[in-house]
Amino acid sequence: IFPSIGYKSGELYVEETKVREIAEEVGTPVYIYSKRAIEKAYREIEEAFSKVNLLIAFAVKSNSNVWVLKVLKELGAGADTVSVGEIFRAITAGIEPKKILFAGVGKREDEIEFALERGILMFNVESEGELLKIESVAERLNKVAPIAVRVNPEVNPKTHPYIATGLRSSKFGVDFETALKLYRKAKESRYLKPIGIHFHIGSQITDVSAFEEAASKVKELVKELQSRGVEVEYFDAGGGLGINYKPDEKPVPAKALAEALIPHVKEVNCKLILEPGRRIVGNAGILVTKLLYRKETPEKLFYVVDAGMNDLARPSLYKAYHHIEPVKEISGERIKATVVGPICESGDQFGQDRPLPLLKEGELLAVFSAGAYGFSMASNYNSRPRPAEVLVDGSNFKVIRQRETLADLISREF
Ligand code: LLP
Repeated sequence: IFPSIGYKSGELYVEETKVREIAEEVGTPVYIYSKRAIEKAYREIEEAFSKVNLLIAFAVKSNSNVWVLKVLKELGAGADTVSVGEIFRAITAGIEPKKILFAGVGKREDEIEFALERGILMFNVESEGELLKIESVAERLNKVAPIAVRVNPEVNPKTHPYIATGLRSSKFGVDFETALKLYRKAKESRYLKPIGIHFHIGSQITDVSAFEEAASKVKELVKELQSRGVEVEYFDAGGGLGINYKPDEKPVPAKALAEALIPHVKEVNCKLILEPGRRIVGNAGILVTKLLYRKETPEKLFYVVDAGMNDLARPSLYKAYHHIEPVKEISGERIKATVVGPICESGDQFGQDRPLPLLKEGELLAVFSAGAYGFSMASNYNSRPRPAEVLVDGSNFKVIRQRETLADLISREF
């Protein structure tokens, strides 16, 4: 029902591996990723942009598992990072520092130092204060810091307000006027080297016209910079390309994004960088959970499952839709069930009044599109050990992160 994930003779498979077998061996809740689906999503972008010089810098925040990063490294990906922890993960996975970007509004001095010492591709700078901080760290280390300014193209990507980042009111990026000032400062500094420009307008964007509008505005700024003698080598258009969260919907093709961006990038003769996260891993992962109790109240039928909002926060945090199906394919009549977790908050829900078969306690459910912002946003809330992660490759699977233990929960408290 999603690429590389579907039913065969009544059982859910990820590639050629039975989901039930993984759950029996590893336990639940468990995140399961398909290597093939990751590769396919990556290649779709690569092919759509084959006519330009492109670096795909995978947004590590969407799925930070080292083994997932290794799969991407093998494909040639770089990394878009937002903390020293993410840089550390990317480097551990073998991604070359020269393919690593460092973004975020609040980079600390120690993080800047770490990145400079490793020799990353560039810092995506978000404010004047940060530019000066990078300059001073670079001076202390006697290095030249390659930078791009993150500009705010002020477009509305028509997505959830929490993940729209290119609006005028946003904390991200700087306006064009300020950007010109920062580039001038950077150009004059011995310790800074402006090499690119960056924007990121939001996430889960399914209408590429916002990308087109943003690219067109930023291109004009690049022309202005070029006329002032600033060499802009990289045009970093951020991430944000959306996916389908419903199995019967089609995602916007990567080709459409290519058509929106390429003419502008070509006009200013830049290399293109993209920072996709969700688009590469989102539909490559599922969260498998077990039905603990079927609870009927006068109002509703609840399926109480063993995964909670601490494991997958998106439904409770953004009211995001995640498709849910039983791991055993069951045909026939469906009833309405509200799928909830064990956490002591009403918002701990995976889906309300979902048409699902009447299930017996102990049966397994799959929550789809959980590969992006799933485990990476998981917490230990309610003192729940975080789930295991598994990577499927054909008919083999590998535990790529062990389930946390009770001892893990308190290991930092002694
Ligand atoms: N680049 C920058 C600068 C970003 O801020 C982000 C995401 C990305 C790239 C990757 O965006 P993607 O291609 O994955 O859409 N937790 C939210 C999503 C937050 C996105 C934050 N920034 C969610 O679960 O929907």
